[in-house]
Amino acid sequence: MKSSQPFRVRVFAFAAAALAALLLFRLMRAPGTLGLLNWNPGYRTFIYVILALGAVPFFLAVVYEILRAVPAFRARRGAGILSMGVSAGFAAVSLAAFLFISIAPNRVSRPVPSPGILDPARGIAARPQSDKEPYLRLAFSSDAHWGRAESDAEARTRILRSVDAGGYDAFFFLGDISEMGFPEEGFREAASDLERYLTRVPVRPILGNHDALVNASGRWTRYFFPAGHSSDSGSPFYYRIDAGRAHILVLNLLWGEEDFDHDQRVWLAAQLESIPRSDAVVVLSHCYFYASGYDDPETGSPWYDHPGTIREVVPLLEKYGVDLAVSGHNHYQEYLEKDGVSYVVIGAMGGVPDPAPTYRSPASKWIRVSTFGFLEAEFYPDRIELTFRDAGGAELHRESVSAE
Ligand SMILES: [Fe+2]
Repeated sequence: MKSSQPFRVRVFAFAAAALAALLLFRLMRAPGTLGLLNWNPGYRTFIYVILALGAVPFFLAVVYEILRAVPAFRARRGAGILSMGVSAGFAAVSLAAFLFISIAPNRVSRPVPSPGILDPARGIAARPQSDKEPYLRLAFSSDAHWGRAESDAEARTRILRSVDAGGYDAFFFLGDISEMGFPEEGFREAASDLERYLTRVPVRPILGNHDALVNASGRWTRYFFPAGHSSDSGSPFYYRIDAGRAHILVLNLLWGEEDFDHDQRVWLAAQLESIPRSDAVVVLSHCYFYASGYDDPETGSPWYDHPGTIREVVPLLEKYGVDLAVSGHNHYQEYLEKDGVSYVVIGAMGGVPDPAPTYRSPASKWIRVSTFGFLEAEFYPDRIELTFRDAGGAELHRESVSAE
C-alpha cells in the first residue's frame, strides 16, 4: 500500500527532529561539553544550529499541514516535496555529524606509545613510617598542552627529566596534557614523551578540559587509562588511590562543577566518610577551587576563585578536613589556604603562561607567574612538606601542611 504524502511529510519531519535530538544528546553527554558552553558562550552557536536542524523541518511540516487545509491552495504536492526535501537534507546532516562525532574523536592509531602509567586500583606502595624520612614522595604538574605550537616543549621535557631524577613514587599530571584531544597528535606526542623521559617514575594523568575537546574522552581513556586498569568508582575520570596512610582522591572537574554529577558527589562523600581523620587526604582535579586570576579578555569569564567548584565541592573538603587540594587549569603556580584546607595551583608544565593576575584571591599566600615547574609533596605522619620547583628542579618556595 502506498503511503499518502501528508503521512510521508510527517515521517520525514519526525526523522529529522529525532536525529537532531540524538546529535544534541550525544554532544551534551560528552564530558566537558556543558563546561565549554558555560565558559565560552560563542560555542553555543553550534547548539543553536543543531536545534534548527530539528526545528526547521518540524516547522515546515506544520506549515504544510496548515496550507493543505486551505481549499484555495493549489501547490500542495510541491509544498509536500519541499518539506520532505528539507527534512531529508537536515536529517542527513544530523546523522553525518552524529556518526562523525561518535567515531572520529575516539579512533586511535596503532601502536599507542606505552608510558609507565599508574593503575589507580593498584595504589602506591608507601615506605615505612618515620619522623625523619617521608613515607611517600609525589610530584605534580599540569597543563603542558602538547600539540600547541606555542607551548614550551623544552620546559616540559626538563620537568619530565627533573621528575624522573627526583626519586618520586608517582607523578600526577593534572590535565590539559593536549591542546585538544581531537585531533590525535597532542595525545600521541605526550604519550611518546612520557614513555621516553619518565623511565623510573609512574605517571597518572587526569582528564583536563582541553583533553576532552571534542568528545575525545574515549580516546583519552585508551591512551591514559589502558585496558587492564580499573578504579574503585568504575570511572576512568574519578577514583581513589591509596598509599599507606595517604589517600588521593581524583575528581573529574574540567571547566568547573559541570561534570560533578550525582554519582561523583555520592562517591566522594563516601570516600571522605571512610578515611580516618588522622590520615592524609589529598584531592586532585584539573579545575581549581580558590585561585588568583583575571577576567578573560574575549569572553569576560572570571578565571579565579571558581564560584561553581567552591559552591559544590569545597563544603565537602572543609567538612571532612581534606588536607590539600592540587589543581591546574590556571597557568600559574600558587599556594592558598582557606578554612582549614590548603590549595595548590600548578598549571606550569609548558602551556602558555596566563597573564599576570588582575584579581588576587584573599586565600592566596604565594604566587609565581610565568615560571614553569612542578610541585613536590613529601608525606610525614603529621605533615605534608610542599616544595615548588622550577623546570630544572631548583626550589622556588616551601610550605608545610598539617596532615593531622
Ligand atoms: Fe590549560
